[in-house]
Amino acid sequence: MLTSIKAVGTHVPQGVLTNADLERMVETSDTWIRERTGILERRIAAPNEGATDLAVMAAEDALSRAGLRPQDTDLIVLSTSTPDSTFPSCAARVQERLSARGPAFDIQAACSGFLYGLSVADQFVGSGEARQALVIGTETLTKIVNFKDRGTCVVFGDGAGAVVVGPSSDGAGIRSCVLGSDGQGGDLIYVAPGAPTPEGPGRPEIHMDGRKVFRFATEILAQATLEALEKAGVALEDVSLIVPHQANARIIEAAAKRLGVAPEVMVNNIAQYGNTSTASIPLALREAIDAGRVAAGDFIVLVGFGAGLTWGACVLQWEGGGAAPN
Ligand code: ACO
Repeated sequence: MLTSIKAVGTHVPQGVLTNADLERMVETSDTWIRERTGILERRIAAPNEGATDLAVMAAEDALSRAGLRPQDTDLIVLSTSTPDSTFPSCAARVQERLSARGPAFDIQAACSGFLYGLSVADQFVGSGEARQALVIGTETLTKIVNFKDRGTCVVFGDGAGAVVVGPSSDGAGIRSCVLGSDGQGGDLIYVAPGAPTPEGPGRPEIHMDGRKVFRFATEILAQATLEALEKAGVALEDVSLIVPHQANARIIEAAAKRLGVAPEVMVNNIAQYGNTSTASIPLALREAIDAGRVAAGDFIVLVGFGAGLTWGACVLQWEGGGAAPN
């Protein structure tokens, strides 16, 4: 059975961390951050605000846009690198808060997680194993960033996005998903415990070889896009929008060049949110919908990469009705 995205919901924390704020924390400058990443500001969760809190708000937004109640869904697939606890899963916590039912579980594929989750939901709903699924990407990355490391702390931000996946109602929907992983690149981005401090054990911290990840990213975004299009039997010329993972504006520009598509085809909203990992694709998709850039029948590619190394791409034809801008 063909499945489709019924609605997209989002939620970002209120707190804003600007480049000027970061200038006071590490040796950096607003100019460097803008020119090298395209980021102007990012959202930062409050100390008492967790990945589950953001996920619940994004899921409620998606459900309300789809005109559904939580009980109308029977699967929650949640992707995060910053769960509030190892167990229970964030998905189970969200299920409890929404009073939803059915299986609920977390998956971890770093910034590719949303696409992994979408692919899982597509298969559950497509096979009839679930009727309607919530796919959520939620992150509080600023809680695992070392604010003394200028190579990472300027890049990451917090946020959540969610979609409802259900059976296609008009023949449009998800046409293909491709996923990949290369464990050989595991050391290029990883989270390790921070050094102990007099106050206690160090908190986990992101480590990244930015240059090497950059090179990988520009190649894989183009490669995964083309693979997913070939699997879907859709020509690149017929794609009206590509929604890439928002890691760096220069990566998005380089991927557009490599693919030979106009810069306007790529959605780029990194300026306001930074890299929100698994939340970045639904956040960018929602913004594109709000800006009137998505019409029923359009072919769209969602594509991302992340730690693992992992990557994924999905081709979908945008459905009319519930999935249209509202
Ligand atoms: N402010 C000022 N200078 C800086 C900063 C900063 N914030 N960060 C690095 N620099 C300096 C470096 O020290 C270096 O100085 P040097 O030439 O004197 O040695 C110079 O700027 C250039 O450093 P690069 O690391 O080459 O900078 P680059 O242009 O590559 O930008 C960045 C760094 C933004 C991290 C970039 O490499 C990038 O975006 N990489 C991809 C990251 C990514 O996609 N991550 C995805 C992870 S998602 C996940 O799965 C969690």
